[in-house]
Amino acid sequence: MSKTSIPSLIQKKQQGEKFAVVTCYDASFAQLVENAGIEAILVGDSLGMVLQGHDSTLPVSVDDMAYHTASVARGCRAPLIISDLPFGSYHSQQQCLDNASTLMRAGAQLVKLEGGAWLTDSIELLSRAGIPVCGHLGLTPQSVNVLGGYRVQGRNDDQAKHILDDALALEAAGAAMLVLECVPQTLAAEITQALRIPVIGIGAGPQTDAQVLVLHDLLGITAKTARFVRNFADGSSSIEDALCRYRNAVLDGSFPAAEHCFD
Ligand code: KIV
Repeated sequence: MSKTSIPSLIQKKQQGEKFAVVTCYDASFAQLVENAGIEAILVGDSLGMVLQGHDSTLPVSVDDMAYHTASVARGCRAPLIISDLPFGSYHSQQQCLDNASTLMRAGAQLVKLEGGAWLTDSIELLSRAGIPVCGHLGLTPQSVNVLGGYRVQGRNDDQAKHILDDALALEAAGAAMLVLECVPQTLAAEITQALRIPVIGIGAGPQTDAQVLVLHDLLGITAKTARFVRNFADGSSSIEDALCRYRNAVLDGSFPAAEHCFD
């Protein structure tokens, strides 16, 4: 199995082929994700909630992210590894470069950061330094205290335009990919069409180039899940089988279905 590269995912977008992404935080699960043929792993700061038991991602540190990124990198070879820069770790450009470098040294191939046009200078800096960046727009969990809760974003015209403008600004600054979380499916479709880079959706409807789910949600471990989640462990013979069914459903377009989408 060869290593997934960013150009290979851009090529999939150009050819209208979907790909699957799942969060993962350790070597054992990374091996299962690889066996299932899933193209990319996100070492998400969601680990603060699903592994550490916090009620938000805010307490997660760069050391936590580096530890779990290194664990994942030891467990698999083929999936592209995207690692989250946690809350408070990329507010100044030097801090952003230092912390992104730490995650790359731990085994990431891309770093993800949450936010819009205010990040363009940092994205240019990272790209120049050889660090590919994945943006994250829509519901950005690190800003839960500004957003006032985990809510769908971009439902009115002004908000939708703002998210589209941010997406274009991130791409122009050099972002290699974009995660779009909890936005109306029509807005996600418009942004996916407007960008050359792959758009990975979560709660963003079926028309993005890829889907991502939190591993624990996909496996039905999380007690309370969001509307956009499907439990793939239901009816599966093993964890690997559940991951294979997730990937197949993303690739054949049967996930997300209408009941997982927002209008
Ligand atoms: O941290 C995470 O798992 C994420 C996904 C929800 C996209 O950012």
